[in-house]
Amino acid sequence: MLKYLDYGFENRPAIVTGAGSGIGEAVAIELAKGGAKVALFGRTLAKLEKVAEKCRSYTDNVLCAAVDVSDPESVKAGVAKVIEAFGGVDILINNAGIESRLKPGESFFGTLFDKLDEETYMKFFKIHDYGHYLMNLAVIPYMQKNHFGRIVNTTSVTGIHGNYSTPAYTASKAGAITQTKAFAMKYGKDGITVNAVAPGMVDTPMKIDATPREYEIVASKTPLGHVASGLDIARVILFFAQENLFVTGQCLTCDGGSDLA
Ligand SMILES: NC(=O)c1ccc[n+]([C@@H]2O[C@H](COP(=O)([O-])OP(=O)(O)OC[C@H]3O[C@@H](n4cnc5c(N)ncnc54)[C@H](OP(=O)(O)O)[C@@H]3O)[C@@H](O)[C@H]2O)c1
Repeated sequence: MLKYLDYGFENRPAIVTGAGSGIGEAVAIELAKGGAKVALFGRTLAKLEKVAEKCRSYTDNVLCAAVDVSDPESVKAGVAKVIEAFGGVDILINNAGIESRLKPGESFFGTLFDKLDEETYMKFFKIHDYGHYLMNLAVIPYMQKNHFGRIVNTTSVTGIHGNYSTPAYTASKAGAITQTKAFAMKYGKDGITVNAVAPGMVDTPMKIDATPREYEIVASKTPLGHVASGLDIARVILFFAQENLFVTGQCLTCDGGSDLA
């Protein structure tokens, strides 16, 4: 088992959005192992409760909140619940996200490029950009009080190099990277770091429609030889959440080197 003692998570209140599955689930469990007080945010309470049960093997300080990160009232209510239970927020992992495909069964390299209506297009930005903005603004006053905060945003390699099949997804993920830098510049003086991770393909429920052949293709183009697990990405996120960190405004690609190929 990895030891996160040096990461200083013990007793730190942390919020993980999109904690009901995939990368967020792995982050929440690892934070619980490290002794953090973990708040799980997502829209589906039943999913969060299952992850909470796993977290409770390591700590009793776990709570779930049904929160839609793109809804200001929902975010406010969720953060208020955390403040009431844990007294503050030291760590925020902005990880909630939606898939670049819209319907189950759409091809991975889909045909959606010119078929996005306004509502669908904006949904990506509401969750991947506005959602980070709302969550940041809700927790930063509590981080400022303690002159300490760690914010980590899950973006995507498609936000760095683009992806022809997913214009709204890729643009919203690029926005999340530049917004990371904006928050890092503004709140560094308050002891708050803001960084991002950019995964390539990750084996999570988001990729439920990807075929074995698609996994094979990605793995064969990846120098480290396999598609990432949620835990592979969680470990990089947790690096940026550690107590002693002199890095801010950065986005780290975590794709097993496939960008190099
Ligand atoms: N899997 C990949 O290949 C890959 C690659 C690059 C980047 N990413 C990014 O990694 C992050 C995590 O994705 P994942 O792969 O772990 O997929 P996942 O298992 O589908 O997890 C995403 C989670 O976000 C939650 N969510 C979606 N919309 C939300 C909203 N409006 N408010 C609150 N929670 C919301 C979902 O739960 P509910 O629906 O119950 O809310 C879900 O549990 C996402 O930002 C994704 O874009 C994934």
